[in-house]
Amino acid sequence: MAFDAPLDIEAIREQFPVLSRQINGRTLVYLDNAASAQKPRAVIRAMTDVMEGGYANVHRGLHTLANETTEAYEKARLSVTRFLGANEGEIVFTKGGTEAINLVAAGLGQTLGEGDEILITQMEHHSNIVPWHFLRERKGVVLRFAPVTETGELDLAATLPMINDRTRVVSLTQMSNVLGTINPLQAITEAAHAVGAMVLVDGCQGAVHLAIDVKALDCDFYVCTGHKLYGPTGIGVLYGKAERLAALPPYQGGGEMIGTVSETKITYADPPMRFEAGTPPIIEAIGLGAAVEWMMRFDRAAVAAHEKALYDRVIERLDGANWLRVIGTAPDKGAILSFTIAGAHPHDIAQILDKQGVAVRAGAHCAEPLMARFGVTASARASFALYNSLTEADAFSDALVKARSFFA
Ligand code: ALA
Repeated sequence: MAFDAPLDIEAIREQFPVLSRQINGRTLVYLDNAASAQKPRAVIRAMTDVMEGGYANVHRGLHTLANETTEAYEKARLSVTRFLGANEGEIVFTKGGTEAINLVAAGLGQTLGEGDEILITQMEHHSNIVPWHFLRERKGVVLRFAPVTETGELDLAATLPMINDRTRVVSLTQMSNVLGTINPLQAITEAAHAVGAMVLVDGCQGAVHLAIDVKALDCDFYVCTGHKLYGPTGIGVLYGKAERLAALPPYQGGGEMIGTVSETKITYADPPMRFEAGTPPIIEAIGLGAAVEWMMRFDRAAVAAHEKALYDRVIERLDGANWLRVIGTAPDKGAILSFTIAGAHPHDIAQILDKQGVAVRAGAHCAEPLMARFGVTASARASFALYNSLTEADAFSDALVKARSFFA
């Protein structure tokens, strides 16, 4: 397949206005991409164009601006459909990945009860834990956590036997936001489907770094979020196989999700509209459409290789640093580096790095069960994106060595 944009990192960087910002007297080195990515001009322009050039509510109007905006909104849906390899009608816009998982959990939960099991993993972030805990609390389902090994991999030998004839849903991340681990989805999906369980794949990180084909994955639901995909906040995506969405009850009630409403009866619209009650995040959806169109210009395998080369460079530069504990050392992992430094609180590390212009995240990364698994309450995390450079990887390694000297 030919891609229309070569992986020229300097040219890519120029498309992100913020990357030339000075932070504490240094050029910004932004390595907090797993939390949220920066935005290219293509996204910024698509969003301002609709606000400046003509904006109205969607699916309701009969005037020119309403028709144009509806067309742009639906075009964005088609871009996302293509980005994920879905069929038309299988993409629902939500306000984020979290809302997408809540939507599925709330809908499936209506038919679940005591004796039913939901299997997630120890490496999920809270978006893919708490909605299922709700079902444990409210419906009495059993919530099980598949174990993670010392290297930060899913313990497949222990996980597969946890999928049994009581399992109704298996919900797991494609790529851990803490460990960078990429999960063996095929084995899990086959085992789940063999017992009639549904599979939800949380692609909040995966969709950013891997080429996605939901049909090849054969998952029932796939979730991702706009702001990590170089798009805006306030927009997320739920993919569902057509028959799964058709069987799912509505999440929120309001305009546009209905067929008819009378004083005594309501009927619902077909998916995806059934799940988009009220005025949707129109400008944000258009921004996301621009973001995924922008991403599809690049060879995703080349992007992943570039990001991993940055990760490997840091690991190589810090080789032998016995003060550094890397959490998540799976082979073939993605470019997310979580770490602790003996005697230093991760928050302090992040603040000292910030003084050197380097932005990383520190904390529990919305993944407290995983932190507990590794016996820590927090870690620092550097996460790489398409626009990061080798120079930045080196600047980060140098800044980390300097940060460590404060604690040695
Ligand atoms: N889940 C996001 C992160 O990893 C917020 O930082």
